[in-house]
Amino acid sequence: MDPLHLRSAGTSLVMSFDNGEAEVIHWGADLGAALPDLSILGEPIPPSSVDATVPAGLLPQASSSWRGRPALRGHRISDGVSGLDFSVRLRAVKASVVATGDVPGKGTSAVVVQADEEAGITVESSLTLHDGGLLELRHTVTNTGSSPFQLDELATVLPVGPDAVELLDLTGRWCRERHPQRRSIQQGTWVRTGRHGRTGHDSSLLFAAGSAGFGNRHGKVWATHLAWSGNHEQFADTIADGRTMIGGSELLGSAEVILEPGTSYTTPALFAAYSDRGLDGISEAFYSWFRARPHHVLPAAGGGKPRPVVLNVWEAVYFDHRLDTLIELADSAADLGVERFVLDDGWFLGRRNDQAGLGDWYVDDALWPDGLHPLIDAVNARGMEFGLWVEPEMVNLDSDTARAHPEWIVGPASLSYKDGGRLALPWRSQHIIDLVNPDAWQFIFDRIDSLLREYKISYLKWDQNRDLTEHGHAGRASVHEQTLAAYRLFDELRKAHPGVEIESCSSGGARVDLGILERTDRIWASDCNDALERQTIQRWTGLVVPPELVGGHVGPTTSHTTARTHDLSFRAITALFGHFGMEWDVREVQGPEREELQRFIALYKEHRGLIHSGTMIRADVPKGSLMLHGVVPASSPEPGETGGLFAVVSTGTGFAEQPGRIAIPGLVPEQPYRVEAIFPAPGDADYGHTFTQTQPPAWLNSGAEATGRFLAEVGLPMPILNPEHALVLKFTSL
Ligand code: DGJ
Repeated sequence: MDPLHLRSAGTSLVMSFDNGEAEVIHWGADLGAALPDLSILGEPIPPSSVDATVPAGLLPQASSSWRGRPALRGHRISDGVSGLDFSVRLRAVKASVVATGDVPGKGTSAVVVQADEEAGITVESSLTLHDGGLLELRHTVTNTGSSPFQLDELATVLPVGPDAVELLDLTGRWCRERHPQRRSIQQGTWVRTGRHGRTGHDSSLLFAAGSAGFGNRHGKVWATHLAWSGNHEQFADTIADGRTMIGGSELLGSAEVILEPGTSYTTPALFAAYSDRGLDGISEAFYSWFRARPHHVLPAAGGGKPRPVVLNVWEAVYFDHRLDTLIELADSAADLGVERFVLDDGWFLGRRNDQAGLGDWYVDDALWPDGLHPLIDAVNARGMEFGLWVEPEMVNLDSDTARAHPEWIVGPASLSYKDGGRLALPWRSQHIIDLVNPDAWQFIFDRIDSLLREYKISYLKWDQNRDLTEHGHAGRASVHEQTLAAYRLFDELRKAHPGVEIESCSSGGARVDLGILERTDRIWASDCNDALERQTIQRWTGLVVPPELVGGHVGPTTSHTTARTHDLSFRAITALFGHFGMEWDVREVQGPEREELQRFIALYKEHRGLIHSGTMIRADVPKGSLMLHGVVPASSPEPGETGGLFAVVSTGTGFAEQPGRIAIPGLVPEQPYRVEAIFPAPGDADYGHTFTQTQPPAWLNSGAEATGRFLAEVGLPMPILNPEHALVLKFTSL
């Protein structure tokens, strides 16, 4: 079989079949159209080894003497005997390329079929290299035998280039999601396991290998993301011969997937990008893929609408829902320029705190004698859309739904808890509804569907506040089926209500992945509205997810989750580079502070088109206490246009007396720009706290003019920013 070569946006993927199976022999820099005879890549055979070269297969397998982590694990059960066909020998039987242009909106795609007829196993792999260089890979295994096959794992992996010597992955917890950790690649396996039944606060949104010291804007990087919201593993596997594979798989429970004859299992998609210019190049590949989706929310995709300014009332009122207070909040929000008003948790039957009510998706008459109409009418009359919080996958034991249907509550036992079956431990006093049960699924669908029919709801904040522990259906592990059933719930509700946007929230940012983002329009990155924490959370979330899909709110002056106090400008500049909103009792914002907030909202509205369609730039600033990030337009700006909007962020005190010059990358080299520091401005309430300097740098008060090349190479001297303060720089093209 001839080799396959997929090429797009500076990336090549070459697959050879010379060893009888599919082997990715290169995933990395574009090689140009002409390939040499690939037999030159035949490896030496070391002493004390198998008498053949060992391919690093698209599905690495022990039958080729791959002694690293195999892609496929499982066994056949026949006539009561299990453990059969434990080692399959997959051989390529078909490989075809779909050329660019043949698949609308896609780059280059290939389909590869490999089979072991004796073992009765066939695996079809589909690979698409999208226009921006993002690779999408998934496998489907089919049991072609005549007895059941228990699937333990089917992994999607790719080889990284020989320059890769370091790993970067992300981890976190509630209120501190997606923080980076790094280590060098050594022999052995580095595995990140998620057993939360949901994506998890600690899930590694990106799992990357790269050249020594790779950074935001330098170095070679090979990065993967597993698009799955259930149990999973991501790993880098370096075997004794020095080769490294990175990838991931769904983590299946005991006997969770048993393939009856003729049935199949498809892996979650592995998304993968290569960059020779650091992590920013990886983000570009992901952003380009997101923005090319026909259902993407943005003007960039055509037809979308600007991302509206949000007021979410959670930290303003929590469970204390009163119509008069909420209407006052709507008044205040409209006056500020808010465009979407979101009523959070607390509106449904019996929900006065987090102990009761989940599952009873009926508006509580005691609180809302006329339903939600008076509030929604007031919100709409003030020119805002209305959004509503729901948590459809959950149930409290103290709810009519749980009382009527104890058999819908998930536990490890086959018996309902009313009949003596054990439940998983409660978490925030809540349990999970068994969406694998068709009646339960239908009930939940009907409840949310009828709310969306009855009320003018433009937006759902779809929350999910617990891990799926000991998660079973009819006594058998079922996170896999539950995840698919939850996806189906999103999909069917979207189909029935195509105009309604959905936010994925999960105790903050515990469900952020491309599986959920395929069916939602925004993520809530974290329950932490502390701007200092948010700087890191948003920066690393933004590695994969573009800012138009990342909710960021200006929280109260003193953060409810950390008790830190920040000036308005720091909070607003932090929220600016995302989907901007507020989560604060804005009635209390008065006088100069209110004017400043209004100006920030106007700034967001003026620049959201750029922020939500441009290229994200994250500078590698060697000084540990400063961060610099910004957005430049996707194409060269015309004279007079905004050619870049950046934030300089001080996270702590600096080591040196003054920060010195900082290079500003990402602008068009030959383009002259005028640069101004526009926020906070002299006269703003918090301007006085922003700096400690007896004299500002020469350019700060009146701006400067320089080319993109000068700014990137020489930079500008930075003012002495106080810790936990920030500055917005605007670059106008001359
Ligand atoms: C967790 C979410 O992350 C919060 O924003 C809020 O919606 C609460 N749940 C409500 O219970």
